[in-house]
Amino acid sequence: MSFENLAVVTRGGIHTITIKRPAKLNALNRQTLQELYAAIIDASGDDKVRVIVLTGAGDKAFVAGADIVEIQQQSPTEASSFSAFGQNLMSMIQSLDKPVIAAINGFALGGGMELALACHLRIASDNARLGLPEIKLGIMPGFGGTQRLVRLVGSTRALELCLSGEPITAERAEQLGLVNRVVAADQLEQAVKDMAEPLVKAAPEAVRGILQSVLHGAEIHLEAGLALETARFSLCCATEDMQEGTSAFLEKRSPKFKGR
Ligand code: COA
Repeated sequence: MSFENLAVVTRGGIHTITIKRPAKLNALNRQTLQELYAAIIDASGDDKVRVIVLTGAGDKAFVAGADIVEIQQQSPTEASSFSAFGQNLMSMIQSLDKPVIAAINGFALGGGMELALACHLRIASDNARLGLPEIKLGIMPGFGGTQRLVRLVGSTRALELCLSGEPITAERAEQLGLVNRVVAADQLEQAVKDMAEPLVKAAPEAVRGILQSVLHGAEIHLEAGLALETARFSLCCATEDMQEGTSAFLEKRSPKFKGR
């Protein structure tokens, strides 16, 4: 599958999707959103892909937001479908059963921050700036940002970020629990690899069970979440990979999981 605004490469089970509109700081126009949707669907159905990495082209931006030129030209009806499409894309990413890592290599603003928030894990370079500046444009986040942010950091901090529109440093984002770690810009690629490689080797049923139990479980009543965890735990225990993982431990060797 080839794209105009994305570069896609799979290496050793790690599928990297690079958003590629560097002259516009990788801003998400409709075409890029549609390409991203297609690329994610494609990767989700490809058994060779075990981990997905999302990043931005160039050394300045992950994604500097939804495309402001397009936003300005939209009718309210078009704005509604734009928001719904963006939300669906972000929800699809979050509900994938393969881990998605955001490699935040610069500005992650507006739709860029919303995209990062939909990923399962986030590593930021130390020059990254994260924020939801929509209020400065007379609008508000529309790709799920208000909802994911409040769930991650609580209403006090979510309201400050949304109402001020001021970006925060990568370091502050780490303090708030918005990113998993911050590394020097020239270490980002390696840090992402270090996070992704063990996930490529992990038992896929365990990975799927953890993603679903943590993310879906957080949205439902505790008892229902615990029942979900039990169901996913027993599914793991029905796999050859469980036999392999436990045998490898007892035989003092590294496991070789087969995804069965
Ligand atoms: N949509 C459309 N174009 C964008 C964009 C966006 N979200 N963000 C940046 N661009 C474009 C700029 O218009 C500029 O295009 P031009 O060269 O044709 O004039 C180009 O990308 C470079 O951006 P520029 O503003 O010149 O870079 P900078 O280093 O001075 O500032 C930012 C960087 C990120 C602080 C600034 O671009 C910015 O504030 N962007 C908008 C962020 C935003 O509000 N996002 C939420 C959108 S809903």
